[in-house]
Amino acid sequence: MTDQQPVTVTVTGAAGQIGYALLFRIASGAMLGEDVPIRLRLLEVPAAVRAAEGTALELADCAFGPLVSVDVTDRPAEAFDGADVALLVGSRPRTAGMERSDLLEANAGIFGPQGRAINDHAASGVRVLVVGNPANTNALIAATSAPDVPRERFTAMTRLDHNRAVAQLAARLGCRASDVDGVSIWGNHSATQYPDVTHATAGGQPVPTLVEQDWLESEFIPRVARRGAEIIDVRGASSAASAASAAVDHVRDWVHGTPGRWTSAGVASDGSYGVPEGLVSSFPVRSEDGRFSIVQGLDIPAFSRARIDASVAELEAERDAVRGLGLLG
Ligand code: NAD
Ligand code: LMR
Repeated sequence: MTDQQPVTVTVTGAAGQIGYALLFRIASGAMLGEDVPIRLRLLEVPAAVRAAEGTALELADCAFGPLVSVDVTDRPAEAFDGADVALLVGSRPRTAGMERSDLLEANAGIFGPQGRAINDHAASGVRVLVVGNPANTNALIAATSAPDVPRERFTAMTRLDHNRAVAQLAARLGCRASDVDGVSIWGNHSATQYPDVTHATAGGQPVPTLVEQDWLESEFIPRVARRGAEIIDVRGASSAASAASAAVDHVRDWVHGTPGRWTSAGVASDGSYGVPEGLVSSFPVRSEDGRFSIVQGLDIPAFSRARIDASVAELEAERDAVRGLGLLG
């Protein structure tokens, strides 16, 4: 028996494909630790509540040590009540004939109310990870709708892009992913993102001395930036297990820290590296004492600057579109 208070973890879109890959990892202790009791709250739309209840039955059947309880609901206020960690996975996918502004508006209709429910019902130290696309702007909408929650508690997932970049480098260099450090994802979780190896090392050696610039420009950067589309093309569905794994990595590092290394996350900009304050942009980050901080003092060569600026311009356009729809307050 443990006398530790359970941690409440809320997962939206629980009946979706990422939810199905994610919930079992969380319940097993992979995200917060095997000794941390977890209370799961699953939020779904009414039509998918029964499917989420089916997943809850399977979770029970795993007899995971950390899992204390699973509740399924279609009511945000109930789902986020006392939430310590909120994983916002459920979103409105883009369908045929939908303009980008339609997509932003439809998602604002989800992330606005969820942000308000987090504001009103979550635990005071809640940490929010937005996975549902467009993740950065959805995180901005949710954060704007939760004025009482510090902005730094709303993050967007670019850890999958980070992991993809690390894996591509390791494959190229014939080393293990764990030998690679100092990779940075900048900007939006979209094809404009900039996977940056300027400060990366592999086995302690600077990556720019180990790979050719031509490979970086013509293969590595587009491969990482378009990996989501490649997965959809080859698998016939968007990434699920890798996305779930990245979400586990993101929250684990946020809670437990990143001693001696860095990672990437979408966080509210404080103006670092010329990224307008408030935009939820990916940066290289470290985590210490339960807080992410943007890695400071990195040299940004002209090649990197142009790519960061292009992705940040896309984030500004998304923010302006949402603001133009009157959805940012
Ligand atoms: P999915 O369609 O399989 O599941 C989404 C689930 O969300 C569905 O069960 C749906 O009913 C639910 N949902 C919709 N609106 C909801 C709401 N208001 N409240 C609660 N639940 C709601 O999709 P998926 O494959 O699990 O992907 C989920 C999202 O994650 C998509 O937007 C996808 O593009 C995104 N994604 C992001 C990354 C990343 O790196 N940031 C990676 C992969 C996928
Ligand atoms: C991914 O990076 O795999 C996803 O964001 C792709 C998508 O459009 O769902």
